[in-house]
Amino acid sequence: MNRKEHWETVYTKNDDTQVGWYQPDPETSFRLIETASPEKGAVIDIGGGTSRLPEKLLDNGYKSIAVLDISAAAVTKAKARLAQRAENIQWIVGDITEVENLGRFDVWHDRAVFHFLGALSDRRRYVELAGHTLPKGGRLIIGTFAKDGPPRCSGLEVCRYDAATLAAEFGPVFRVVDETSHLHHTPSGKPQPFIFLTMVRV
Ligand SMILES: C[S@@+](CC[C@H](N)C(=O)[O-])C[C@H]1O[C@@H](n2cnc3c(N)ncnc32)[C@H](O)[C@@H]1O
Repeated sequence: MNRKEHWETVYTKNDDTQVGWYQPDPETSFRLIETASPEKGAVIDIGGGTSRLPEKLLDNGYKSIAVLDISAAAVTKAKARLAQRAENIQWIVGDITEVENLGRFDVWHDRAVFHFLGALSDRRRYVELAGHTLPKGGRLIIGTFAKDGPPRCSGLEVCRYDAATLAAEFGPVFRVVDETSHLHHTPSGKPQPFIFLTMVRV
């Protein structure tokens, strides 16, 4: 099964409140976005899936929000949940390692997507696209499983990072301005340590 088929199956077969990464309130991501962009700039959520982040941003005055995900099923579910409010969001179905151009955003947010990129060439393309999408001074917020996090997510192997190894993937185009540890609990109660970095586009 290829990457896209995997994620389409995940979102077609599962209730999105039962998947391991589900959060009723994405408060860590939101707080980091607020700190990165107090002026409430344009935000893109990479691999946003069915996250509750878009409505939290809308509720708090963000006017330019985009969500990209490889899974059309995830985007359909997220749009259905948001009903009419979905029209205030730009939805993009695509593989982040294949997208050519996303336009311009002030904040790039990714929770638990980059860590699936096991191939160096995919990670290089990801960083290159982020570098083209954010202006100088733009902020990239990325959360991955920490070094002591689980080795797999959604049945797929992940790369686990600490602040130094994650920063190394993004340098010298990005420079770290904040490091935050976060302990996520899956709906079944399993702890998953995350590392979040906020980086500035140099
Ligand atoms: C672990 S989930 C996290 C979802 C969301 N960020 C959250 O915090 O709830 C990973 C998400 O990344 C998406 N994804 C995986 N690989 C991707 C890729 N190459 N390009 C775009 N999205 C991808 C999946 O469909 C899924 O929605």
